[in-house]
Amino acid sequence: MTNRAPLPPEIARRRTFAIISHPDAGKTTLTEKFLLFGGAIQMAGQVRAKGEARRTRSDFMKLEQDRGISVSASAMSFDFRDYRFNLVDTPGHSDFSEDTYRTLTAVDAAIMVIDGAKGVESQTRKLFEVCRLRDLPILTFCNKMDRESRDTFEIIDEIQENLAIDVAPASWPIGMGRDFLGCYDILHDRLELMDRADRNRVAESIKIEGLDDPKLAEHIPEAQLAQLREELEMARALLPRFDRQSFLEGHLTPIWFGSAINSFGVKELMDGIGEFGPPPQIQKSAEREVCPEERKVAGFVFKVQANMDPKHRDRVAFVRMASGHFTRGMKLTHVRSKKPMAVSNPVLFLAADRELAEEAWAGDIIGIPNHGQLRIGDALTEGEALRFTGIPSFAPELLQSVRSTDPMKGKHLEKALMQFAEEGAAKVFKPAIGSGFIVGVVGALQFDVLASRIEIEYGIPVRFEPSQFTSARWVQGAREVVEKLVNANKQHIAHDHDGDVVFLTRLQWDIDRVVRDYEGVTLSATKEMM
Ligand code: G4P
Repeated sequence: MTNRAPLPPEIARRRTFAIISHPDAGKTTLTEKFLLFGGAIQMAGQVRAKGEARRTRSDFMKLEQDRGISVSASAMSFDFRDYRFNLVDTPGHSDFSEDTYRTLTAVDAAIMVIDGAKGVESQTRKLFEVCRLRDLPILTFCNKMDRESRDTFEIIDEIQENLAIDVAPASWPIGMGRDFLGCYDILHDRLELMDRADRNRVAESIKIEGLDDPKLAEHIPEAQLAQLREELEMARALLPRFDRQSFLEGHLTPIWFGSAINSFGVKELMDGIGEFGPPPQIQKSAEREVCPEERKVAGFVFKVQANMDPKHRDRVAFVRMASGHFTRGMKLTHVRSKKPMAVSNPVLFLAADRELAEEAWAGDIIGIPNHGQLRIGDALTEGEALRFTGIPSFAPELLQSVRSTDPMKGKHLEKALMQFAEEGAAKVFKPAIGSGFIVGVVGALQFDVLASRIEIEYGIPVRFEPSQFTSARWVQGAREVVEKLVNANKQHIAHDHDGDVVFLTRLQWDIDRVVRDYEGVTLSATKEMM
């Protein structure tokens, strides 16, 4: 859109982003350093302690700790220089892509972290593709330069070829592995040297007047300096220059090199997000585009998480503010139910704690504790009936039946399953015939996570078993025809947690038959989230 007035300063200073990476590339370490430099934690190691105490804020589950993966997403807010950063954590494992996709609907940019020795790995590629679908601007951080890494040109080539995006170096590494000294900051003509003695300290940066500046020779041994000059010349000749417009459109990614564990390169990356990253963007709704600077408050739920704190049975809906200036206690309209909702206890997630959010601006992520009214895709507004679009729902690809190994706990199991269904963690179907439930997920690991959560959060031991069905389809059509279908196919019928009718089968033939025999009926693989 053209001719928009400049954003109010409070909105213009917000940067809402996620980090995407393959497990082990260093996302947790980088997050921790962000929080450290953002003043949200005092000491590295608070987010993830070593050894036995190993635990990330979002990694409270035993399963996550055992497997070293981060399953649950959370949002963290902190200030850095003049900016307010809202970092939305994305689950790292491929089986949680469903959650990750939704998380990426709530951010304006993403940081792609790659391991300098491994390059672009499978999970990075998948997540990158999701970012591309949304044209999200991407900043790249090539991590672990303190270890033997690939040649810098090779890394850049691989990203360009593998992901079909232009890569513009924002910094250039000097040496690698044991000889890694630091980086030349191409965008600001500065020399940044790594302090190996203190992992949490950042050495002073040294202002340089171009590549012939004699100061370079004071800090870089001759052979390495010659190599740096040669490489930078080649880079200038062969690689694209950073262009903000092209970055904002998602065609070009600036790349920084560094070592998260040594706090090196992190500040430059943070400066990059602040300086070049997009402020809160326009959000699309079915009715119209919602601009962040609009005076009225609007936002949408992109994630619901139950039992975040095992000590308090609560459920938190994560809301991305799309417009306006929200203040605590405001009465908003819950668009789906058309009911007013007084938002009196919204929370902001600071690194180690939750805090009451007294206010929030477009771009912010707030958590709203609730008893199940808020679902993924729901809109909250000052009255306007908006439906935000683009929040995907996925067809469950794997179906299993679940039962409690303690027969006394059947009723509780139902409650637990319904809760997870509303959270969007799984699809839950209650078959019309017989007892028990069928659970549908997108990735197999989700069954393990669910079993673990049901046991930890509800104290119910459960077992997932193969089900006789492999496909679930939502049935839509005129009431009479649907009733006729249900009555004649009871063994295939189930209801989801909203009470909607679902057709379960293992044969495509069955699906074709139903569509042919019941006129006007459609069987759909997904159900709209809103
Ligand atoms: P993830 O969240 O993306 O899965 O990665 P995480 O930060 O957990 O990092 C994975 C491993 O890589 C960790 O080692 C971490 O210490 C290490 N690492 C992160 N950044 C750097 C870096 O810049 N240089 C080097 N050399 N290593 C780095 P770990 O042994 O699995 O765990 P830990 O015991 O060290 O915590």
